[in-house]
Formats: sequence, structure tokens, C-alpha cells
Amino acid sequence: MATGNITAAPRDNWGSKLGFVMAAAGSAVGLGNIWKFPYTAGENGGGAFVLIYLAFVIVIGFSVMLTEFAIGRHTSRSVVGSFKSTDKRWSFVGIIGVLSGLLIMGFYPVVGGWALAYVPKIATGLLDTPEAIGDSFGGFISDPVQPLLWMAAYLVLNIVIVSKGISGGIEKAGKILMPLLFLILIVVAVKGLSLPGAGAGLEFLFKPDFSKVDSHVVLAALGQAFFSLSLGMGAMITYGSYLKKKENLVQTTGMVVGMDTAVALLAGIAMFPAMFAFNMEPAAGPGLVFVVVPQLFAEMGHVGLLFALMFFVGLTVAALTSSVSLLEVVVSYLIEEKGMKRVTAVLSASCVMAAMCVFASLSLGGVGPKLFDTGVFDIFDLLTDKVFLAVGGMFICIFAGWRLNRIDLEKEITNNGKVSFPLFGLWYNLVKYVIPVAVAVVACAGILSGFESGKGAIMILALVIIGSTALISKKL
Ligand code: PFF
Repeated sequence: MATGNITAAPRDNWGSKLGFVMAAAGSAVGLGNIWKFPYTAGENGGGAFVLIYLAFVIVIGFSVMLTEFAIGRHTSRSVVGSFKSTDKRWSFVGIIGVLSGLLIMGFYPVVGGWALAYVPKIATGLLDTPEAIGDSFGGFISDPVQPLLWMAAYLVLNIVIVSKGISGGIEKAGKILMPLLFLILIVVAVKGLSLPGAGAGLEFLFKPDFSKVDSHVVLAALGQAFFSLSLGMGAMITYGSYLKKKENLVQTTGMVVGMDTAVALLAGIAMFPAMFAFNMEPAAGPGLVFVVVPQLFAEMGHVGLLFALMFFVGLTVAALTSSVSLLEVVVSYLIEEKGMKRVTAVLSASCVMAAMCVFASLSLGGVGPKLFDTGVFDIFDLLTDKVFLAVGGMFICIFAGWRLNRIDLEKEITNNGKVSFPLFGLWYNLVKYVIPVAVAVVACAGILSGFESGKGAIMILALVIIGSTALISKKL
């Protein structure tokens, strides 16, 4: 959220602790929580997925975020520089992070554009015919032109924010709109829960049925945890590099993880009871939030119209505060490592992203190239969410556990002994041994099971890209 601090004088520190927490939470809370979490939970059987996701967030997500903050603050560099300055051979981890940022920005603005488009759509009567809301969404995203225009508008907002460093505005907007979005989600949840038949939705979301769990579900939960917490690509390393030495890293990590998880769960509670009440399929896919939420608001009359407008403005701002952090990872690499001017870096990165988004958006209407029967949107999503972020996170942990010095890390995390962190030993062993092994096992098993659904080949492709990046990264 606070890219102003990033885009201003290079080594500015965060003005206030709250400012930092809000910025990091702004990166974390986004489409991942409100758009992706509910439909991924729906597609992966509900309760058991949610439970595994929560376990991953607490054990792996918390530890990796603390690691990223510690590396960032310790090295005071953004993603590639932080690895390079310690050991050149490790710069590939930073490069993988930059690639992940580029790939996520190959589809994130498409969905950000949908959120933006829903503001005028709702203002001009979408809620008047509730029975047509589902078809209207389907028609909209498969239209060859409309979503592209909204995606372009959304991308332009990102370009303006990141290139001019005028994040003051977006930061302020975020500080007001994020709590507002949270409140609206509570309203939606209460409304959804009051509908007849809503109980089945809560049961679906929170009553685990482990017979639905296979290695693909476990990998989906791991990927969701990394994506939602903005981990595995160095976004949090960049944020950490601006953090003051006196701040408490453990507490900050706890706050960001807590907020992110609360929003995801609330989004689930807001959506599933209503879906069950409306007799919709839990595995309805990426359209979930764009269909269920307007339908709920349509039942609430004039107040509903106002809430719906605020919801989609809030969702757009939440998406923006995340995507500017993605764009910033790529841009800061181009500036620091390639010597580009900020504006040139923003424009060149955005041109590539725009081209990727065009293919991603068109693929939803069945247009454009396919690989192993999978369209471009799904390819970018699969590559990043299922492989790149988790593998990136694994390397970040290996780097911290095996390349950095334990004493240095302890000093960094405890502020030279001033902050007590009794679980340091546990965290260190998790990062050094458990997480790398766990991620490797989950990723391999998930990739193997992906072959059943035809997605395995694409995930292997991700590993090939990562491997080649590691090999050629010295030249990049
Ligand atoms: N965490 C963001 C979301 O939930 O929408 C997405 C994201 C942002 C992923 C930044 C990764 C990242 F580095």
C-alpha cells in the first residue's frame, strides 16, 4: 500500500508502525482473499481444504513471512539485491521472484478490471434483475473487448501509482476503504447467514470431510497460503527492507497474517451460506464473488445498492494495493539491476504485463493459444499459485537456514536481544529443515496427481523454467 515510501528516496523508513503493517497487509489482502479463496475452497471440497490451509498459514506462512521480513531488514535491499549482496550464487531466487511477479501480473489485472467494471455495472442497474446476474457475468468475461478495456484501465491505475509514487492517495484510500470492506463483508455474511438453508454453507466450509483430500487439494491449500500472504516472491523482503530496526518483526508478522486470514475466512462466511441458500454449485469457479455478492445485495433493496457499490470500490482498492506491490517487485529489479529510470521501468514492465493480460482475458472466452488443453489465464495461475511461489518460498527458507548465519538472524529478529522470541529455535528449525522438505513433498505429490487432470505437464514446465532461471541467472 505504501509504495510512496518505496518509490520515494530509496532507503526511506516507514513513518509509523501502523503504516508498515497496513502496507504489508495491503499487499496481502487482495483478490487472493476475496475472489480466489472462496472459489478455491469450493473447488477443493470445503472444510478439509480450509483446515489444511489454516495449518499451512500458521506453520509455514507465518514462518516464511518472518523470514522474508528478516532478510529484507537485514540486507536493506529489495528482492534481487538482497540475495546478491550476500552471495551472488543466490541471486536466482530473486530472479524467480521477479518472474513470479511478472506472471501473476499476467492475470491479476484481468480480475482487477472485472472488479472495477462492476462499479458502473451496479450503478446502472445490474441488481435490478437478480436472475440475470450469473449470465451477465458469463457474458461479460467472455466478451472479447469489454474486459480488455477494464483491464487496461486497471493497469493504467497501477502505472500511475507506481510511476509517480503518488501512493499517498491510494494509501489513504486504503486506510479508509479496507476497514470499510471488512465491515461490508460482515454485513454480507450476516445477510447470507439469515437466508433459509444457509447452515449447509457453513457446514461445507468448516466441517472437514477428509475423504475429499488428495495431494492436489493439499498443494492447492499450500499455493493459496503463499498467494494470499504475498509470499515466495520477495514482495515482503522489499517491504521488510524499509522497516525500522526498532520494530518488532514477530508481532508485525502476526498482525499481517492475522488480518489476511480473517479477511479470507470472512469472505468464505459471506459467500458459502448464500450460495447454498441460492442452490448454487460450490465449485462455481472464478465467477463466485461476482455472482453471489450482487445477488445477495439485490435482495436488500436500496441499501443493497449502496453496499454493493462500496463493496466493489473496496475490492478494487484492495486489489490495487496488492498489484502495485507486484508491479513494484519487477520495477525495482529493473531500476536497481538494469539501471532503468523509474518511468521507463514501469512502462516496459506494464507493456509486457498488458500483452500477457490480453491473452489471459481472451482465453476465458475460448480464444487464443492453449497448452495441454489449458488456456493462458489458467496457465499463469497454475504456474504461479501451484509452483513458483511455493518453490520460491522454499529457496528463501533454504537461503535463510543454510546460507545466513543463525546468530545474525536471531539478532535481527530479536532486535539484538531487546525483543523476546522464545520460539526462535522452533522457527529456525522449521525454516531450515521442515518447510523446505514439506514444500518439496507437497509440490512433488501435487504435480504427480496433477497429471490425472492434465495439469501436471504445465507444472513440470514451471519447474523447467525455474531450473533454467537458476542456470542462467548470473547472466541476467
Ligand atoms: N496477496 C495478494 C492477494 O491475496 O491478492 C496477491 C499477491 C500480491 C501475491 C503480492 C504475491 C505478491 F507478491
